[in-house]
Amino acid sequence: MEQQLFTVFGATGQQGGALLQYLFNHPRLSKIYRLRGVTRDSKKPAARALVEQGVEMVEADMNDPASLEAATQGSHIVFAMTDFWSAGSKETEIAQGKALANAALATKAHALIWSSLPRIGLPNFDGKADVEAYIRNLPMKSLFYMPGWFMQNQLSFSKPVKQANENQQGGETYILKPLFPGCEADTLVPLVDNEDIGKYLQPFLDDQDRYNGVGLVASSEFMTPRDMCAVWRKVTGKEVWFENEEEVKRIDRGGEDSWYYGDGSRKALEWTLEQMEGKTTSWEDFVKREEGAWF
Ligand SMILES: NC(=O)c1ccc[n+]([C@@H]2O[C@H](COP(=O)([O-])OP(=O)(O)OC[C@H]3O[C@@H](n4cnc5c(N)ncnc54)[C@H](OP(=O)(O)O)[C@@H]3O)[C@@H](O)[C@H]2O)c1
Repeated sequence: MEQQLFTVFGATGQQGGALLQYLFNHPRLSKIYRLRGVTRDSKKPAARALVEQGVEMVEADMNDPASLEAATQGSHIVFAMTDFWSAGSKETEIAQGKALANAALATKAHALIWSSLPRIGLPNFDGKADVEAYIRNLPMKSLFYMPGWFMQNQLSFSKPVKQANENQQGGETYILKPLFPGCEADTLVPLVDNEDIGKYLQPFLDDQDRYNGVGLVASSEFMTPRDMCAVWRKVTGKEVWFENEEEVKRIDRGGEDSWYYGDGSRKALEWTLEQMEGKTTSWEDFVKREEGAWF
């Protein structure tokens, strides 16, 4: 059987890169699809490494709609994402997302997977929700992948910070600052390991009719920063605490929805997790896997 073309935007980034690795390593899906990645610069090391793995890398720029149809040409499935932070504005992100969808449609892709987010009044969320609404009116199969807070953020800009003074036992203490504005000790944060992206998409890849139009609450669990710190302490033995957490009375959040995804999100999370063939990475699994990288 001739392989179908799967085109991945953001191939050199976290989501697209992890999706390519998942597809490359999956015993069933790797036989079905041949892989294409899109980058603005095929000479960059991340792009060259993908070429060495056997991924076809093509150049296109989401800000240049004319370049996109060559990138999606011949695709059976397109994974499309935008990077709000490099786009710099909601309007630019919307224009990029619509241009990606238009290219997939014009080149007759069978299905489009859009890295979306719920509409919660923040520009980096609402632009993606606007693009989702646009795609929902296009005559093609679609899936909306809505990732939670990337666990990988905790390895970079949201890493616990070592305190200058030793604690009373003469050891080190690390403080976790609010993950985002408004984040408190008992805010339920939906957590996703970027490397799990393919597991979330797998049901759609196996049955595009059944999952057509679905929005995935892509998180392994909803967890508070207070509980994230307790896992760090348990796994690493280091004193890690959320900023001022001892001054705030604990609120039991068991079973609640997460503000990030809104009403009904607990049920939607459970449903999403039930669809997949593979187990996703819990926060504890992630802290263990990255044990050497934390402190
Ligand atoms: N951090 C979180 O917790 C979180 C949670 C949910 C959603 N998000 C969303 O995730 C997105 C970032 O995803 P990521 O972390 O996977 O990305 P990333 O690792 O920062 O990589 C960005 C990717 O986008 C590509 N790209 C950027 N501008 C482009 C353009 N004009 N034309 C073509 N390609 C372009 C880059 O490709 P080249 O440089 O190779 O061209 C690169 O592969 C953001 O929109 C953010 O809002 C983040």
